Amino acid sequence: MFIVVDSLTGLSMKFAAHLKYPVYRIGYDEIPFDKGEYFLLTRSFNFGEIPISTIEVLRKHHQNCIGVAVSGNKNWGTNYGAAGDKIQQIYGIPLVHKYEGTGFPQDVQVVEQYLLERENN
Ligand SMILES: Cc1cc2nc3c(=O)[nH]c(=O)nc-3n(C[C@H](O)[C@H](O)[C@H](O)COP(=O)(O)O)c2cc1C
Repeated sequence: MFIVVDSLTGLSMKFAAHLKYPVYRIGYDEIPFDKGEYFLLTRSFNFGEIPISTIEVLRKHHQNCIGVAVSGNKNWGTNYGAAGDKIQQIYGIPLVHKYEGTGFPQDVQVVEQYLLERENN
């Protein structure tokens, strides 16, 4: 298991640093997609759209993606974290959580708990 992050301004990188898995950032790191399952952290842009860089990854590797969490900002109203809803709809990947900015400890806990349950099943 590893974490794949699509982060523009680095907020989701801070979230990912709390998770006990290797973290790879899209556009920065060589991502070992042949190593099996991963969890995706991404963001929304342009009124709730999925970033192109995330789409490129999911087109090729959605089958190994076990879940997604999305960083956003509630100021975007109904488009808050909307990329996550779209990823769930399009690819059938569970939307585990939406969080603002870097997230709070309780946000990290939701994702940690999900990953733990997946590891134990
Ligand atoms: C141009 C632009 C568009 C954005 N659009 C949305 C949006 O539609 N929905 C949302 O929840 N957040 C939106 N945001 C906020 C970012 O998703 C939010 O700041 C996020 O925490 C950034 O994470 P990152 O630092 O990991 O890239 C937008 C930010 C920018 C700069």
